[in-house]
Amino acid sequence: TVGSITRQSEPGAETGPISAAYAPSKSFLNAVTVQYAKELKDTGILINAGCPGFCATDLNGFRGVRTPEQGAAIAIRLARLPDGGPTGGFFDDDGPIPW
Ligand SMILES: NC(=O)c1ccc[n+]([C@@H]2O[C@H](COP(=O)([O-])OP(=O)(O)OC[C@H]3O[C@@H](n4cnc5c(N)ncnc54)[C@H](OP(=O)(O)O)[C@@H]3O)[C@@H](O)[C@H]2O)c1
Repeated sequence: TVGSITRQSEPGAETGPISAAYAPSKSFLNAVTVQYAKELKDTGILINAGCPGFCATDLNGFRGVRTPEQGAAIAIRLARLPDGGPTGGFFDDDGPIPW
C-alpha cells in the first residue's frame, strides 16, 4: 500500500514514513502491472500486484508486525488464480487496493 497513491493521499493514512524513493518505486510497480496486464490480456496470463503488509524481515530490522509466512500468502493466492481470474489489479489479504 506504500505504492498506492490513493492511500498515500488519504489524510491521516498510516502508510509508512515519507519517502521520495521507496514509495514511488512501488507506485512504478503498480503502474507497470497495469501495462503488462494490458499487453497480455489476450494470452490467458494474469498480471496482478500483491501487498504482503508490514512483515518482519531484514528490510525493516524485523520491526514488521506480520510474519514472512503471512506476507507470502497473497503472492501464493495470486499465483493460484483460476483461468479467467482478475488481471491488472492490486490486492492484499482483504481484497482489492486502490492504485
Ligand atoms: N517487509 C515488508 O514489510 C515489505 C512490505 C511490502 C513490500 N515489501 C517488498 O518485498 C520485497 C522483499 O522484501 P523483504 O522484506 O523480504 O526484504 P529482505 O528480507 O531484506 O529480502 C530482500 C531480498 O532481496 C535480495 N536482494 C537484495 N539486493 C539484491 C540484488 N541487487 N540482486 C538480487 N537480490 C537482491 C536479498 O538477497 P540476499 O539475502 O542474498 O542479500 C534478499 O533475499 C522488497 O521489494 C520489499 O520492498 C516488503
